[in-house]
Amino acid sequence: RTDNLKDRFIGAIDQGTTSTRFIVFDGTGLPVASYQSEFRQIHAHSGWHEQDPKELVSSVEKCIEETMKTFLALGHSKSDISTIGITNQRETTVVWDWETGEPLHNAIAWPDTRTKSMVRELRSKEGADDLDKICGLPLSTYPSSVTLMWLLRYRPDVKRAYDQGRLAFGTVDSWLLYNLNGGVKNKVHVTDVTNASRTMFMNLHNLKYDDTLLKFFGLDKNKIRLPKIVPSADAKAFGSLDGGPLAGTKITSCLGDQSAALVGHCAFEPGYAKNTYGTGCFLLYNVGEKPVISQHGLLATVAYQLGEDRKPVYALEGSIAVAGSGVSFLMNNMGFFRDSRKVSEVAATVPDNGGCVFVTAFSGLFAPYWVDDAKGTIFGITQHTQRGHIARATLEAACFQTKAILDAMAKDSGHQLSDLAVDGGMSNSDICMQSQADIIQIPIERPSMHETTALGAAIAAGFASGIWSTYEELRHMNRANRTVFKPYLSAHESALMYKQWSKAVEMSRGWLD
Ligand code: G3P
Repeated sequence: RTDNLKDRFIGAIDQGTTSTRFIVFDGTGLPVASYQSEFRQIHAHSGWHEQDPKELVSSVEKCIEETMKTFLALGHSKSDISTIGITNQRETTVVWDWETGEPLHNAIAWPDTRTKSMVRELRSKEGADDLDKICGLPLSTYPSSVTLMWLLRYRPDVKRAYDQGRLAFGTVDSWLLYNLNGGVKNKVHVTDVTNASRTMFMNLHNLKYDDTLLKFFGLDKNKIRLPKIVPSADAKAFGSLDGGPLAGTKITSCLGDQSAALVGHCAFEPGYAKNTYGTGCFLLYNVGEKPVISQHGLLATVAYQLGEDRKPVYALEGSIAVAGSGVSFLMNNMGFFRDSRKVSEVAATVPDNGGCVFVTAFSGLFAPYWVDDAKGTIFGITQHTQRGHIARATLEAACFQTKAILDAMAKDSGHQLSDLAVDGGMSNSDICMQSQADIIQIPIERPSMHETTALGAAIAAGFASGIWSTYEELRHMNRANRTVFKPYLSAHESALMYKQWSKAVEMSRGWLD
């Protein structure tokens, strides 16, 4: 069975916030060929964050081309890849012309906070307090809904297309699927339940577009082309690649990157959780087949639905806007180092944070605080402060916010986690993971295979194409050689550090701008 699986290959497109990857996995979950490409982040004004939709597509095409060169050079052939899965940055909003297939605006990325004042306006509108019971998300700058409203209010081309029934809306999954399927030629327009659950347009309970939500955001569904919502694994709905070295290969899965990471950890049982330290950091806790609406600042979201005949599984989510992007800030804006992997080396030049706490509220603060007027603030600076202290404080910011999220999760679920599985770029920093274990006082488990998100897309695609049919078959997947970080700091010292963080969060609120 294992030999057989070693000869079955699945391609995974992972289109993240700052880079795109294409990875070919064999059926045992090992990557055999991959390529990664970065694309431009466009920050025209403070708090704005855009990407060129065409660059997102071309980065995917480039990654497929380059990976295939390696794959073929290893002696394999195109037909060895039986299926492809897609996973993507969530919430990022793309609008295009249904008739021409051309984007009508840059993609507005999920950390963008231009809608801050619109969000405040909407919070006082009737019905605002009940939205989260329908869609699981609080009103904030983060989901796609208010971003789309902003485009309709401030971009006349977008509004004109809407009035003329030509406006297509999608998150990045839909935009990629539309283009990879040949764009205007085939007009494939779909999204999966996990991505749809990040828009604020979908009812979390029946997985359909919800009239109350659409009405609240002023959308007429007869005027806008919304993608069809389908399960995350499906043999037909996502079409196939129209061109490139894998032309004709079927796409059989699509899921938001945080959902994919949960699947990549094979966290299929309620009570399992994972934390992914990418551009942002996202903790997902599997709550089973019924959504849990948070009372403590977390999101309720669809975790995955691996086929029409399977029930959807839900998660409680703690979303942190800044993790790896904090390290990028030290590198690109402050010139601390030239390679982001050096952050651990700089952090290791000092034994602790030296009393420095960095609230990295570049997009306000997300879960569980939801403070949109917080700004990035460093507390505790003295003549003693070195770069190492600030590097540590940057890594620790995501760790402290994770602690706040776990506390909220324990209140919502009545369950304390006994360990936490991690993945994503910043999880490769031993210093960061040791701090995480110290701050949450439970062990951290890091798999040796780093591409958990892409693996999740591959697993979902394998379900839809018959490579696997039960979760049981995946019990050894991504399990080998895990590194465990045990808490080293005393509970007392850890509590003191967290107290400093909590105070810093309070003081970062209400900046005037
Ligand atoms: O919700 C945003 C999330 O999907 C982005 O993930 O890994 O690009 O930070 P990442």
